[in-house]
Amino acid sequence: MVEVLKIEGGHKLYGDITVSGAKNAALAIIPGALLVEGACRIENVPSIRDVKLILDMLRYLGAKVELEDSSTVIIDASEIKTCKAPYEMASKMRASYYLLGALLGRFGEAEVALPGGCYFGQRPIDLHEKGFRLLGANVRQAKGQIIAKAKTLRGASIFLDKISVGATINIILAAVRAEGTTIIENAAKEPHIVDLANFLNSMGANIRGAGTETIRVKGVERLGGGTYTIIPDQIEAGTFMLMAAATGGDVCVKNVIPKHMDSLSSKLIESGVEITECDDFIRVRRNGAIRPVKVTTLPYPGFPTDLQPQMVAFLSCCDGTSIVTENVWENRFQYIGELVRLNANITIEGSSARINGVKHLEGAPVRATDLRAGAAMVIAGLVAQGITEIHNPINIDRGYEDLEKKLTAIGAKIERVIQ
Ligand code: EPZ
Repeated sequence: MVEVLKIEGGHKLYGDITVSGAKNAALAIIPGALLVEGACRIENVPSIRDVKLILDMLRYLGAKVELEDSSTVIIDASEIKTCKAPYEMASKMRASYYLLGALLGRFGEAEVALPGGCYFGQRPIDLHEKGFRLLGANVRQAKGQIIAKAKTLRGASIFLDKISVGATINIILAAVRAEGTTIIENAAKEPHIVDLANFLNSMGANIRGAGTETIRVKGVERLGGGTYTIIPDQIEAGTFMLMAAATGGDVCVKNVIPKHMDSLSSKLIESGVEITECDDFIRVRRNGAIRPVKVTTLPYPGFPTDLQPQMVAFLSCCDGTSIVTENVWENRFQYIGELVRLNANITIEGSSARINGVKHLEGAPVRATDLRAGAAMVIAGLVAQGITEIHNPINIDRGYEDLEKKLTAIGAKIERVIQ
């Protein structure tokens, strides 16, 4: 018996669709609650597998974690009983390594499994380790775990050799309660980094410059509790925008921060899609052909790598040849083979995908090889002629809340079946 997402393609999407809270902000903020002695009430938390997993890990560590409703969680980490994350759970998801920075920052020690998660080639954590060591921690790897210990964490100047979201976040977490000031140079500027800094500052931290390439963290003694609301998910919003554009419908994507979508909006406009921005929603319409475009993924504010597979699926039916170049991950085109099963005509040339637009895609069984590749298969299935079956939809559930329900409400023919 296997679970598949079954999609009947060819239906344009019309109506309103609402974006949930940002997964990659929640996966940083929830570990951040470990730094707080008191109750943190966090709103707009997406109800997705990865978030459920990180909340379970906090429970294992001894934090009190209660769901006030499906998107509001109350975390009280005043009493933590261990600094060793559960190996089995932590090895399932890369973001578990944020527990390192949070536990080290609060207790001066942490033991977390080496990261798992989506496989796009080598996913090192050398920059995280460099930051922890400069703050005064001893960091080593043993039996598949990363073990970090520090008598005292002292502020330091840390230059990140590469722009890394994870390393920027982990160093902020470790530095918040260190003695003195930490400067992070060449920091990542993603919206979820700003959201983490805003969350920690609302609990009493002193972080300046998040969202720029230089972040200053002035260590504080203690963080008290409070309430915080997570920002909307930039990548979920972009996925919905691409679904609307691909099917040629007319959709209002609601609960977005339009500024966060600039790189995608501008690329969609270039490809002939009509984009109308309002304060907290973006309207997406397409009547004519999809004009071919060139896309290059880059750290924020560049085009997000997490929308690369979805963009390629959208461009599969462009009127000409498009080129998508992946600059962040060394191997993030494994899903192309699945698109080719749907009659896409795409070849890989080095770090670029050359997409020769086809008249139409044809439904077939495909696999969700990872989270965003799975989202790309949904986009392709929505436009393909006939039925597309997406196997391994559990990967999609990691980052999309109630996807079938949200899409059915705007005219998609999509259902989850057990075969
Ligand atoms: C985060 O991963 C996201 N995950 C990824 O989203 C996203 O693709 C990525 O940032 C880039 O935006 C979460 O936020 C949970 P990085 P992360 O550190 O932090 C190299 C999704 O779909 N690097 O910014 O792991 C690395 O190899 C996921 O939601 C080092 O060399 O990404 C890569 O080439 C998939 N050494 C580049 O930096 C390090 O110590 C960017 O990685 C760390 C990273």
